[in-house]
Amino acid sequence: MQIQDFSKHIDQTVTIKGWLTNRRSSKGLVFLVLRDGSGFAQCIIDEKVVGEEKLKIADTLPQESSIELIGKVVKDERQIGGYELQVSDFNIITKAEEYPITNKEHGVDFLMDNRHLWLRSKRQWAIMRIRNRIIFAIHQFFQENGFVEMDAPIITGNACEGTSTLFETDFYEKPAYLSQSGQLYGEAMAMAMGKIYTFGPTFRAEKSKTRRHLSEFWMIEPEMAFYDLAQNMDLIEQFLKSVLKRVLADCKTEFEILERDTKMLENAANIPFTKLTYTEAVAVIKGEKEINGKNAITTLEEDLKAVQEKIVAVQKEIEEREAKANDPNLKKGEKNFNRNKADQLKNDIKDLEEQARNIPQWLLSAKNFEFGNDLGGSDETVITRLFDTPVMVYNWPHEVKAFYMKRDEQDPRLAKGVDVLAPEGYGEIVGGGERETNKEWLVEKIKEHKLPMEAFEWYLDLRRFGSVPHSGFGLGLERLICWICKLQHVRESIPFPRMMGRFLP
Ligand code: 4AD
Ligand code: MG
Repeated sequence: MQIQDFSKHIDQTVTIKGWLTNRRSSKGLVFLVLRDGSGFAQCIIDEKVVGEEKLKIADTLPQESSIELIGKVVKDERQIGGYELQVSDFNIITKAEEYPITNKEHGVDFLMDNRHLWLRSKRQWAIMRIRNRIIFAIHQFFQENGFVEMDAPIITGNACEGTSTLFETDFYEKPAYLSQSGQLYGEAMAMAMGKIYTFGPTFRAEKSKTRRHLSEFWMIEPEMAFYDLAQNMDLIEQFLKSVLKRVLADCKTEFEILERDTKMLENAANIPFTKLTYTEAVAVIKGEKEINGKNAITTLEEDLKAVQEKIVAVQKEIEEREAKANDPNLKKGEKNFNRNKADQLKNDIKDLEEQARNIPQWLLSAKNFEFGNDLGGSDETVITRLFDTPVMVYNWPHEVKAFYMKRDEQDPRLAKGVDVLAPEGYGEIVGGGERETNKEWLVEKIKEHKLPMEAFEWYLDLRRFGSVPHSGFGLGLERLICWICKLQHVRESIPFPRMMGRFLP
């Protein structure tokens, strides 16, 4: 019996097992909030029912103690989850030691050090449930559309996405690498199966700490024989829309817990994505192309002004809250409430101050952007700021893209790649494109990128034996979760993040 099944057991007596997350008491009653992994529920313990001694045990039970409760399920719309349990009896399974994570605000480093426990908190619970629904939705889409899941190796002998972010490892005294992408193997598997997708961990030795980069992340990489860039772009859009629709339909409770306004997600699920060539995207960044009467540069200038005003307002509220937290005339509960609020606002203001520092730099880099540059994180933010849907940027200068990208026959300066940028400041979530089929051009590119030819002989075989036009893409799972849940940082999107400087717990 789980909390999520309460709706099927109204007015029945049930037994649930879980952990205590919160407790309060008033005159002969103790209110325990129990979580059992499937949900959260308030459980009422009444002295008249359980007796004085048991009430006292409940009233002093430490947070995160494990407990079994027997009681009646009662519908009550005001309660979390819409039900409460009127307890007739309970048994303590294990009494917990003093729990380090309390209801007050904690710093991020402390929470990351306690990630193994932090995962139990409500917000993390909601994020991980959404992650699970996204993963399932991804498999549903591909399985329902004739794709075969095939796994690429993790230990590889060649680079796929450039040599600067390779993790090297010792493979029976020979150097090998942790896979940066399953794509090259995906291409081989597509020639055997027609349409495949891989779903596996990938590794990048990112040398900088950002909100978007993990050293170990999960990538979904479909590869399709006989698809050109346009068909690939259509598939990406259908795929993302289908995932969004399923998550929106099934994760309402989780979005509520995260206080996620899902308007932008609904847009993305229902409205056609914006498509810009790289050349058009450059004009948008530089403020030369207006979108619905708005221009990127003036919009950013307005954003900056708004952020600065917000900082002043939040600062003022912090002062007011702190005065109340120190007011000897107020009750302890009210003082604590204001102390907590002030601490929360101090965290908020750090983010606002970061924005106030960043926007002027974004403006500068947008104004100075030159055709031929790759889009940086801030450029992506600037572009997506003007649109209410994801933006697909395609037809890139070939120099900024990987060696396998197909050159445009009409304009050989360009490569047939596409990036999908998520709105609300999130930027690239998908990178993909059509693959080069001209063997001579590929060989030239492999040399140009200074990659070891012998490691790519097998890959060139794919062009020797029945080469066909083909395309594919890679979706970064954690980037998608980050946007869908509107997280500040990608570290909260994966159970145990691996990033520069962090591989524990
Ligand atoms: O754009 P990328 O590097 O493309 C590839 O790896 C291609 N081989 C994919 C393909 O065509 N089959 O990476 C694809 C996606 C990015 O759009 C981003 O979402 C994610 O992978 N990604 C990362 N996510 C988290 N941390 C990192 N360090 C990431 N690097 C890439
Ligand atoms: Mg990319």
